Amino acid sequence: MKKITKAVFPVAGLGSRFLPATKATAKEMLPVVDKPLIQYAVEEAIAAGITDMVFITGRNKRAIEDHFDKAYELEATLAAQGKNELLRIVQEVVPKHVNCIYIRQSEPLGLGHAVLCAKPVIQNEPFAVILADDLIDGKPSVIKQMVDVFAQHQCSILGVQDVPREHTKQYGIVGSVNLEPNIEKVNKIVEKPNPAAAPSTLAVVGRYILTPRIFHHIAQIWPGAGGEIQLTDGIAALMQEEQLLAFRFAGTRYDCGSKLGYLKAQIAYGLKHEELSVDFAEYLKSI
Ligand code: G1P
Repeated sequence: MKKITKAVFPVAGLGSRFLPATKATAKEMLPVVDKPLIQYAVEEAIAAGITDMVFITGRNKRAIEDHFDKAYELEATLAAQGKNELLRIVQEVVPKHVNCIYIRQSEPLGLGHAVLCAKPVIQNEPFAVILADDLIDGKPSVIKQMVDVFAQHQCSILGVQDVPREHTKQYGIVGSVNLEPNIEKVNKIVEKPNPAAAPSTLAVVGRYILTPRIFHHIAQIWPGAGGEIQLTDGIAALMQEEQLLAFRFAGTRYDCGSKLGYLKAQIAYGLKHEELSVDFAEYLKSI
């Protein structure tokens, strides 16, 4: 029985939809209320028992490395000021048993290429991929739900959700047959199909568990949609050899790669934030 202990976070994207906010910093560092998107993603992995976080970074991503590093000056200042609660928050960004590993993707050649960059660290183990701009509020965490499905089926699994047909062009879309409640056996996967050509409306939304055989396939594929090395195309090739499942996870997803989704996440997380919920709800009612 294999266990999932490593997660890959592709964070090399340019974040052009959030310019100018992302001119000098990573889009994954944009906060939802008081926590950056990438920290929600890492916490999701930690909640699934994952201990090795592999970040595939690019230019302008130093803030991510700094965020998960020890901040001596800040900690010393907070300690001297007796701000113990804030000190605890800062120190708990990464628990001691968690390792952070950074690999630089020197050219933005696509999501598949980013995942391939993780091969030297992942080697021959199954692993998770988490796209931080898909913020998913689930209990248990969505990757934990998928790790549990993996424990039973020991194969690659895609986190999926139904989307309106007019949105298929934004996603990897699967064709499948139902296997058991919430689990589909995938027989087709296409990157960003036109609504008329989409095999269904079941979209992959930023959560994957993959077997290491994926590296072999990504290394062989040609650039696909948008001229990029697509993870979806690698998965399509993997599916010819190994069972591939799609899992309808339980949870609410916020597409924080879009401004509207990001604003919705701010509202939802603001309304359940322990310090703010009451005042924020009152304010929203008043407007
Ligand atoms: C990527 C994947 C796509 C997936 C989507 C989920 O696309 O290529 O298959 O459905 O993430 O958010 P991107 O949003 O990077 O264009």
